[in-house]
Amino acid sequence: MPYFRSVGDVPRKRHLRTPGPEGGLLYEELMGEEGFSGGSSLLYHLWSPSAIVAAEPAADPRAPLAPNAPLLPRHLRTPSLPAGGDAVTGRHALLGNADLTIAWVAADRSSSLYRNALGDELVYVQAGAADLESVFGRLPAGPGDYVVVPRSTTHRWVVPEGGRVELLVVEARGHIRPPRRYLSPTGQFLEAAPYCERDLRGPGGPLVDTSAGGPADVLVRHRDGLSVHRHARSPFDVVGWAGCLYPWALSIHDFEPIVGSIHQPPHVHQTFQGEGFVVCSFVPRPYDFHEGAIKVPYHHANVDSDEVLFYSEGDFMSRAGSGIGKGSISLHPGGFVHGPQPGSVERAADQTRTEEVAVMIDTFRPLDLGPAARTVEDERYPWSWAT
Ligand SMILES: [Fe+2]
Repeated sequence: MPYFRSVGDVPRKRHLRTPGPEGGLLYEELMGEEGFSGGSSLLYHLWSPSAIVAAEPAADPRAPLAPNAPLLPRHLRTPSLPAGGDAVTGRHALLGNADLTIAWVAADRSSSLYRNALGDELVYVQAGAADLESVFGRLPAGPGDYVVVPRSTTHRWVVPEGGRVELLVVEARGHIRPPRRYLSPTGQFLEAAPYCERDLRGPGGPLVDTSAGGPADVLVRHRDGLSVHRHARSPFDVVGWAGCLYPWALSIHDFEPIVGSIHQPPHVHQTFQGEGFVVCSFVPRPYDFHEGAIKVPYHHANVDSDEVLFYSEGDFMSRAGSGIGKGSISLHPGGFVHGPQPGSVERAADQTRTEEVAVMIDTFRPLDLGPAARTVEDERYPWSWAT
C-alpha cells in the first residue's frame, strides 16, 4: 500500500515499552514485506501473537489442476457452480499456474480464522455483502468491491445471517499492488492514475475480541498444503496499529475509465499488478468516438499471456451470440487468436457507450484447469466464431 494509516491506540514512538489496559505491556509485532525492506505495519497486541499451543495438518480438498489440452479457448459458467460453504473452504479452484489460483465461491456462512502464507489475495465481490474481519479491524465489502488481503493476514469473512456473497478470488503467490507507473517516486498516486488514495478504504478501527478467552484455531495455507494453528487466545487482540501494510478495498465503480477516439488497449484499464499477472477493470464508458471507429476489440494474439475475463454486469457487446453472460469466465490462451464474435463490429457501429463491468486477469504463464471448471464448461464456445 502506498500510504500510511494509524488506527486505534498507537504510541507516539515505536519500539518503546508500552503499558496495556490490563496492567502488563503491549506486545509489538512488525508485519513486513521483503524482510525489513518493504511495506510494513506495527501492530500492538494484548497478548503474544506467537502463543500457539498446538499445530496439526489439515486436509486440503483441492484436487490438482490439469493442463488446458487440447489447447482451447474456454467458457466457464460460474452461476452453475455449487453454492454454499464459507468464503475460504467453499472456494472452487477454476484456473491456476505457479503464480496464482483463480477461484469462485458463493458463500452462505462465515469462515473460520484463516491466513494465506503463500501470497496476497484479491477478492472481487460479484454480489451480496460481507465483512473482512482481521487483526487490522473490520472492512465491509459489497458488490463491485475489490479487497486486497496481504499475505499472512489473520482474518475471517463474515457473512450476515441468512445472507450470501459471491466472490471471485485471486490467490497470488506474491504481492498485489497498484501498477507502479501510477505512483510517484514517493508512492503517491499520480494525477493521470485512474484511481487515487481517496478511492481506497481501509479498516476503520481496531477489532478486539476479548469474549473468546480460550484457544482459537487459525487455518493456514502454506507451500505444503493446509495446517491449523491453535492460538492460546484470540488473535483479534490488536488495540492499535500504524503503517502502510493492511487490507484495503477499491470499488470498481470508482475506477475512472480512459477512452479515446479509437479503441484503447487493455493497458489503460489496468488496476493491479501481481507477480506474473495483471488485473484490469472494464467499466461503463463512452465508446470510441472516431466516426469510423471499430468499437469492439479487434482480433488480437497476446503471445505472452493467457487472458481471463470475468463478466460481472451489463451488456457484453463484443461477445453477443457466444453464450457469454453475467457470471461467465472466458479463457483465451496464448497460442489462440481471439476477437469479437461475428457481426458485433457492425452491431456496435451506432452505439455510443457500453455498460459493461468486467474484470480481466492476464497471466504471463499458461493456466491449468481445475476439476470444477470442467463441470461448468460450455463445450460449444471454442467454435462460436465459426458460425
Ligand atoms: Fe483479449
